[in-house]
Amino acid sequence: MIPTLEWLPEGVNFLDQTKLPLEETYVLATDYKQVAVVIRDMIVRGAPAIGVAAAMGVALGIERSTATTLDALTAEVAIIAKTLAETRPTAVNLFWGIDEVRGLYNSLAAKGAPIAEIKLAVIARACQMYDEDIAACQKMGAFGAPLLPMQGTVLTHCNAGALATCGYGTALGVIRAAIEQGHKIDVFADETRPFLQGARLTAWELMKDDIKTTVLCDNMAAALMRQGRIQAVIVGSDRIAANGDVANKIGTYGVSILAHEHGIPFYVAAPWSTVDMATANGDLIPIEQRDAREVTHSNGRQMTPDGVGIENPAFDVTPAKYVTAIITERGVLHAPYAESIRAMANAARS
Ligand code: MRU
Repeated sequence: MIPTLEWLPEGVNFLDQTKLPLEETYVLATDYKQVAVVIRDMIVRGAPAIGVAAAMGVALGIERSTATTLDALTAEVAIIAKTLAETRPTAVNLFWGIDEVRGLYNSLAAKGAPIAEIKLAVIARACQMYDEDIAACQKMGAFGAPLLPMQGTVLTHCNAGALATCGYGTALGVIRAAIEQGHKIDVFADETRPFLQGARLTAWELMKDDIKTTVLCDNMAAALMRQGRIQAVIVGSDRIAANGDVANKIGTYGVSILAHEHGIPFYVAAPWSTVDMATANGDLIPIEQRDAREVTHSNGRQMTPDGVGIENPAFDVTPAKYVTAIITERGVLHAPYAESIRAMANAARS
């Protein structure tokens, strides 16, 4: 299993995804501020991995704190949470990860637990979230595999694989599970401009698993769909609104329209921590705008004339009407999503 991130006695160790596929190197974050930089600079990326990284960041901040009173530590925890929350706005898993560990801290602090005990408990919770994420991916795989064709080519966009999670992956986990169950599946990976998660990361991790993978420029999928060379699309998500609208990597919306036009199923695989019941629809999802340099430069080389206008939204929203099914670790959701999502949320509460 690819070690995307790992809690170590020295700190949190991250596989540096900005260096892949050419270098397999690691970045050790020894305090929470470094974890924030690792998330912001996309050394770790992908919604579920960001969530667990943020949880570990809060735990690391608490563990390394020199505060001697609960009041002082509580004030520090607020700063730690704010610093991590300001890194990337779209993946709701970031806020879920922070809130999960902060919530545990708050409940132990309210009981007046000793600081040493609190430190051990928050570390244990963050590490448990790591294990839970892998288990959730494997469950998504089991639920989603039967939806994929027994034979054919599946298109994916961005990287929703082991690298985007603590292991196994969401969309790529479903592909892995289908292959493990005997499906004969090849993958088309959109290169995913401008950060090239498909070309660099999806291709790298699938080839490590000997899954036949072909990289496409983002503008090629339409022609291949028309030629009947794509049987299904599966992607991950950074935030799913209560009505089933799905935020994912920029370009996903276009792929969903193409799939709809060509009668190809369009699946989304995401853990329940990606579902944001507090956001009514996709128009309300905050979309991260990233540095223009990601568009103007490729491998350090300038590609555009000085001074030209640049757009760089990192995500777009696919309306629920284009989504054939949403695969979670709790089961598969179908339209009408407002009702199926609410029912799944209520079932979890009861
Ligand atoms: O900007 P990134 O690389 O963090 O974007 C990642 C995606 O868009 C993924 O598809 C999404 O987070 C799901 S990962 C299982």
